[in-house]
Amino acid sequence: MIRILGGRRLDGEVRISGAKNAALPAIFASLLTPEPLVLHNVPKLLDVETAVELVQALGKEVHWSNGTLRITGGEELRPEAPAELVQRMRASFLVLGPLVARIGQAKVALPGGCALGPRPVDFHLQGLARLGAQVEVGNGAVQAKATRLRGARVYLDFPSVGATEQLLLAGALAPGETVIVNPAREPEVVELAVLLQKMGAEVRWDLDRVTIRGTPRLSGAEHTIIPDRIEAGTYLLAGAITGGRVRALSVCPEHLRAFLDRLELAGAAIEVGPDWVEVQGPPRPKAVDFRTWPYPGFPTDLQPPMVALLARAEGRSTVTETVYAARFGHVEPLLQMGARIQVMGNVLVVEGVERLRGAQVEATDIRAGAALVLAALAAEGVSFVRGEHHLARGYENLGEKLCGLGAQVWEEQG
Ligand code: UD1
Repeated sequence: MIRILGGRRLDGEVRISGAKNAALPAIFASLLTPEPLVLHNVPKLLDVETAVELVQALGKEVHWSNGTLRITGGEELRPEAPAELVQRMRASFLVLGPLVARIGQAKVALPGGCALGPRPVDFHLQGLARLGAQVEVGNGAVQAKATRLRGARVYLDFPSVGATEQLLLAGALAPGETVIVNPAREPEVVELAVLLQKMGAEVRWDLDRVTIRGTPRLSGAEHTIIPDRIEAGTYLLAGAITGGRVRALSVCPEHLRAFLDRLELAGAAIEVGPDWVEVQGPPRPKAVDFRTWPYPGFPTDLQPPMVALLARAEGRSTVTETVYAARFGHVEPLLQMGARIQVMGNVLVVEGVERLRGAQVEATDIRAGAALVLAALAAEGVSFVRGEHHLARGYENLGEKLCGLGAQVWEEQG
């Protein structure tokens, strides 16, 4: 449980960690080669630990020290991903493509639904079938087989991050060209492509597609994980919601453009340096409308934290969630804290209130948890946020970083 005494203006600097969503596919890329893969700036998070356990279970050896992962071994890989690890974290499904590309067979449990609503994997499976895999779904798992994958053209109905990564990973070991039309272009996806290039694949980005030319054997590589834009956005919002001043260090400001644009419209003063962003919060935010969208649009992962800010804005904000059907796990607990929010299909209508009040609330996923922590920082009185393991999945040293900014936060048992 996290206990937060609200009402303190945050002030100071916070160093942003490596991006969870870039680290996970990079760890799975290690399955593509028996040569060493060295990853720097890897955040210590529960999800990263799950990814490490998973590649170990499949036959790799992992050495972790001071933010650097050295992944070696795995001349022989096991084809079956333990169901428990896949169910713990949906991104584990990304091992399917690398396994079938490297050893010709794979069995991975279906990730199933989650707190964000139904999240199918149909694009992943259709794409791998295009590359020549025989894919069967049954008994809660996917089995894929192929004597050899080969490059092919795949069209995605939606620029899915995971499906684009799955196909880049598999395409890297498939001779010929894999063309993904309508790919995701999130910075984490582009970074995976950069890593695969270092390992020997050729990647070209065009207006409407990404093309990867695979090779039968990939080499090892050394790579530094990019900064976590969602973690950065969360701390900047912590500054904004408390009317304080927060400078996020070690960030890539370019990755935060759509978010910073809306934050500025909400009344925050923003200063941008080469690798830092500083936000000075307004005494009370202004209402802003926004819609989530694939990159370079407003990231869905910052929708719940941004809603926390708008919950105390002056006026009515309309927030449209277009990436997930039901990513509103933060609404109910925010109501308990005095927010006024109405859910209308995939739209939230947020009537800002002057003051939020401390409450006992429960996080149902990582970013809903972040929204509750932000609301608690601004609320009157004490809040207790349960479900802190969700926060530990995505935020490295959250309590310590917030305390460093002057917040009154305690991580407690029970
Ligand atoms: C990744 C991120 C997650 C982020 C999301 C959207 C990681 C580990 N996670 O998740 O933090 O919120 O991108 O930016 O990087 N879809 C289908 N069929 C598919 C695949 C996806 O219908 O086969 C739908 C999903 O249900 C969802 C939408 O497409 O509605 C976007 O999902 P996707 O981009 O694939 O998200 P993830 O890769 O799971």
